[in-house]
Amino acid sequence: MRKMSRDEYKSKVMEITPSRLHPLLKGVYRTVFPENKSIKTAGHMESVPENLPDKHIRNVVVHPSREEMLTTIPKEGKVAELGVDEGDFSDQIISITEPEKLFLVDEWGTERYGEEKMRKVKKRFDDHTEVSIVRERSEVALNNFEDGFFDLVYIDTTHSYEQTSVELDISQRKVKEDGIIAGHDYCVGNVSRGVPYGVISAVHEFCVRENWQISHLSLETHGYRSFALEKIET
Ligand SMILES: C[S@@+](CC[C@H](N)C(=O)[O-])C[C@H]1O[C@@H](n2cnc3c(N)ncnc32)[C@H](O)[C@@H]1O
Repeated sequence: MRKMSRDEYKSKVMEITPSRLHPLLKGVYRTVFPENKSIKTAGHMESVPENLPDKHIRNVVVHPSREEMLTTIPKEGKVAELGVDEGDFSDQIISITEPEKLFLVDEWGTERYGEEKMRKVKKRFDDHTEVSIVRERSEVALNNFEDGFFDLVYIDTTHSYEQTSVELDISQRKVKEDGIIAGHDYCVGNVSRGVPYGVISAVHEFCVRENWQISHLSLETHGYRSFALEKIET
C-alpha cells in the first residue's frame, strides 16, 4: 500500500473531523510540524556563539517584568518602538519613561496586524504631542534618522534571526554613545503556535561581534522576555 504524505494525512483527518474542531487541529498540526519558512533560528551558524562569554553578561540586572525594566531607562529621552501592534507597550513606555519624543514604527501590513490596528494607535495617542507614528518597515524608518539620535530603541517586530540582526545593526548606529538597544521575545519561540524565534541568536551574535553587553533582562513566567543592551566601554 502506498505511504500517505503528511499533507494527505492532514486532509484525511480534516475530512473525518467536524469543522468546529478544525481551528484546534490546525494549532496542533502547526505545533507538531512547524513550517519555518520566514522565521529561522541560527543555532547552527558559526557566527552565533554557543554561550556568551562572561564579559557580555557580568553586569546584567534581572527584573520581574519588562515594565520594571523600563523604570531603569533614563526619562525624557528620544525613543523608538519598532513593532507597535495596538500600542499597549507604547502606553507603558510613555507612562514609565516620559519620553521627550516617542516614534512608533510599524508597517501594519498583514492580516494579523493590519490597518485597523494603525487606526486604533492613531486614535489612542491623538492627544500625545510627543508621539509620532511612522508607518514604515523598521529598517527603512530607522535609516531616516541621523546617527546617534536615540536614547532607546525597543525592537519587537518579527523576531526572526535575520530581521532582528538587521535591526540591531542599524540601531547600533542610530543610538547615542551611551544609548540602549532593547527588545522583546528574548526566547526560543512561540511554543503554542509552533514558531521558533531567532532573537537570542541574533542578540548573542551581535554582542560578541560589536562588543555590547546584556545590561538588563526581564524574567516573566510566560517566557516572553525582554533584553536591554549597552556598549561595553573600552
Ligand atoms: C508583536 S507585535 C508588537 C507588539 C508591541 N510591541 C507590544 O508589546 O504591545 C509585532 C508588530 O511588528 C510589526 N512588524 C512586523 N515586521 C515589521 C517590520 N519589518 N517593520 C515594521 N513593523 C513590523 C507588525 O505589524 C506588528 O504590529
